[in-house]
Amino acid sequence: METLNSSMTYDQRLSEVDIRGSMAYAKALEKSGILTKGDLEKILSGLEKISEEWSRGAFVVIKSDEDIHTANERRLKELIGDVAGKLHTGRSRNDQVVTDLRLYMRNSCSVLSAHLLQFIKTLVERAAAETDVIFPGYTHLQRAQPIRWSHFLLSHAVAFTRDSERLGEVKRRINVLPLGSGAVAGNPLGIDREFLRKELDFASISLNSMDATSERDFVVEFLFFASLLMIHLSKMAEDLIIYSTKEFGFVTLSDAYSTGSSLMPQKKNPDSLELIRSKAGRVFGRCSGMMMILKGLPSTYNKDLQEDKEAVFDVIDTLSSVLQVATGVISTLQIHKENMEKALSPDMLATDLALYLVRKGMPFRQAHAASGKAVHLAETKGIAINQLTVEDMKSISPLFGTDVSQVWDYANSVEQYTTPGGTSKSSVTAQIEQLRELLRRQKDLF
Ligand code: ARG
Repeated sequence: METLNSSMTYDQRLSEVDIRGSMAYAKALEKSGILTKGDLEKILSGLEKISEEWSRGAFVVIKSDEDIHTANERRLKELIGDVAGKLHTGRSRNDQVVTDLRLYMRNSCSVLSAHLLQFIKTLVERAAAETDVIFPGYTHLQRAQPIRWSHFLLSHAVAFTRDSERLGEVKRRINVLPLGSGAVAGNPLGIDREFLRKELDFASISLNSMDATSERDFVVEFLFFASLLMIHLSKMAEDLIIYSTKEFGFVTLSDAYSTGSSLMPQKKNPDSLELIRSKAGRVFGRCSGMMMILKGLPSTYNKDLQEDKEAVFDVIDTLSSVLQVATGVISTLQIHKENMEKALSPDMLATDLALYLVRKGMPFRQAHAASGKAVHLAETKGIAINQLTVEDMKSISPLFGTDVSQVWDYANSVEQYTTPGGTSKSSVTAQIEQLRELLRRQKDLF
């Protein structure tokens, strides 16, 4: 039972925030007359000593320490005697643990946000440096239309900015103080919660003690944010894994982010990207696991909730390393412009051929059919579509003229997409500018 019940192996990570919460609570107790000035001084200096022991790695955990809260209080008593017993007046581990967790996660959100913004910036700046590279855009993993390589990088960056915004919203909802809610009914000592809020730098105080001690919406939201971020990362990883194969040959991962095979000397494996992709499963597992724990729980605190911490810590650690590795992969990735260009084929310009006719007045449906005929004709002749003569083209539609040769130019093709959001140079540049602006704004938010 002791082994099952103890959370000490992992909730030690809350040691610092637990002490911070206790210091604030002790001050509030002094304000409400429960502690004398002398008591408060003793408690604060004892807590400071404990904090210092934790930071030196000198805190000795003993077998009967059930969790970080009981461990810190046990040590406080050893250091300052019976007055330590006054600290927990009107407080419960129920409001204490959730206060600790919110303090801890608030801080972690800022760290993760910095990693995420750095990663997005790496994508955006790479896109800015490589706007002239054109390669195939795929739908259904089939060659679809020529696009700029930057357009591809930015498509991922944009998804990550939504993740970054979402993290900001999660942080906002984490930033609510539950302390002063007691076990279930509230605090009977007239504790000044507004004072606690200021001491611990929360944006607001929770509204209802029953909800405050037992809701873990902020945990689920964080795990969901993390899951969606990981899904976006795994999609990008999958794209790059495909692009790094010999068959595509668009990119090469730097050696720092790949490994060799123990058996096949020629192999270079994209392990970093595979690990990123796999962690999406791990993180979502934590998210769904937490939701299953919450499902069907009665009001209010139940020990089931102790499980929240391992999920949160594991996901924080996973995101932290994944984001830093992803940044490294993108900043050191080598691209092979020639292979990207070689992968473009004239059939990818069939849409442009239809658009040529549209610009000469033909309804799109008809133009689509005419372009289809040209594709078919080229196939039966065993040549590429751009090898058809003007006469061949004219046999399909009299609207075709010698100027049709302009269609067979990939750079011209991408330059048509000037509408906002498109792949022309002007549109891609505008996207880069907007993302840079967004990154500046989000940096200020955290
Ligand atoms: N270690 C516990 C947790 O993580 C602290 C709260 C215990 N509360 C209780 N009523 N037993 O949730």
